[in-house]
Amino acid sequence: MTARLLLPGLGALLAADALPVTLIGAGMDDWDAARWQERVATAFGEHGKAEAAARTLDGTRYVRADVTRAEDLRGLLDSADGEVSIFFALPPSVTVKACEALCELGLPEGTRLVLEKPFGTSASSAASLNRLLTRLAPEERIHRVDHFLGKSTVLNILGLRFANRIFEPLLGSEHVESVDIVFDEQLALEGRAGYYDKAGALADMIQSHLLQILALLTMEAPLSLDPRVFRDATAEALRATRLWAGDAKESSLRARYAGYAEEPGVDPARETETLAEIVLAVDNWRWAGVPFRLRSGKALGTGRKEAVITFKAPPRIPDGFRGPDTPDRLRISFGPDRLALDFDINGPGDPFVLDPVTLEAEFAPGELPPYGEVLRGVFENDPLLSVRGDTAEQCWRIVEPVTSAWRAGEVPLQEYAVGSSGPAGSLLTSGGDSPH
Ligand code: BG6
Repeated sequence: MTARLLLPGLGALLAADALPVTLIGAGMDDWDAARWQERVATAFGEHGKAEAAARTLDGTRYVRADVTRAEDLRGLLDSADGEVSIFFALPPSVTVKACEALCELGLPEGTRLVLEKPFGTSASSAASLNRLLTRLAPEERIHRVDHFLGKSTVLNILGLRFANRIFEPLLGSEHVESVDIVFDEQLALEGRAGYYDKAGALADMIQSHLLQILALLTMEAPLSLDPRVFRDATAEALRATRLWAGDAKESSLRARYAGYAEEPGVDPARETETLAEIVLAVDNWRWAGVPFRLRSGKALGTGRKEAVITFKAPPRIPDGFRGPDTPDRLRISFGPDRLALDFDINGPGDPFVLDPVTLEAEFAPGELPPYGEVLRGVFENDPLLSVRGDTAEQCWRIVEPVTSAWRAGEVPLQEYAVGSSGPAGSLLTSGGDSPH
């Protein structure tokens, strides 16, 4: 993750904003300076040629340290100048120990804490981690990173909804039949068993990223994009969110791809899912009665990454029209970043026959990769794109009935073939391809 997302994001940010940043890597690996530098240079890629990034590359160093020991952390902090940002790319249990050690030391004024997911492993562990963190820094200096919040498409949802008159009045239970939020990947484990086998698709993708998308799709119009206002709106939407019908047997599905159990580092007894689906209700005045189906899986045949809003059928189609009556759909695709609106109009030839058509628009790409956007917020002390503490706890609260039903064996673990479309009995309602 550090090599694939974090460091490339940092490289792009340095190239764009020319920030003076000293990068210190720390870990238990016995790396020499050259190996670390090469790692960072590879991750920076072309951006490493920009002046500020080249300076960071030149000055970067690696310190062998046990970050759960106060003395090692003291050494690290003493070697840093200027404003300090501590980035925890660590498993949750190690993060907790590192924070406890930091509490013994106290931190320089203005230190920022940047935390990778998973943020805790349950609502209660997230709550106790939050309590620990607030002993170290005020909430606005604590950045719980979710790189999906830096994706331009995800933020574009706000523009689409609230900078136009035509979509927003339709978004609610009166007109919407269901919403699917899907993140199907062709990628498999990528050698990440150490992390992934303990997380699984539900925690890796749904509990974190997809719930953030759900919040953006369902929140009420925020007064502004001020971090406090925006994050209040996010929290409000997630507070209303719960498992559909409160029943994990009906409202969840778990599966793993054939061969996962044999991957190096995987413990088959853990029964980790590589594909998860859950159905949620956003139980408020606007959305009550609309099912939100969230799904994410790995090693699938097609990388399908989109939110699909399916509208209800019109109250009545006048007699005399013929042809397919396909549901109207608004599709927001995440990579390629695109917006598509599917609906029916009179087709060519016989004007009484309806034909499905699609209006499409491309979203402009963001200036920076998602991690770069998120890191810019960190360095500018702007928590807009960071997950607030209470929201992190809410996200665990939402998935907990599912994890406990799975642990109790109430929902069987299915299997699917690598490269397939996933297990039978998907809870989604929108198919893979646009009908148009
Ligand atoms: C990460 C997950 O947060 O997001 C990965 O841990 C996943 O499992 C990745 O592959 C997907 O994000 P992106 O932006 O790389 O498609």
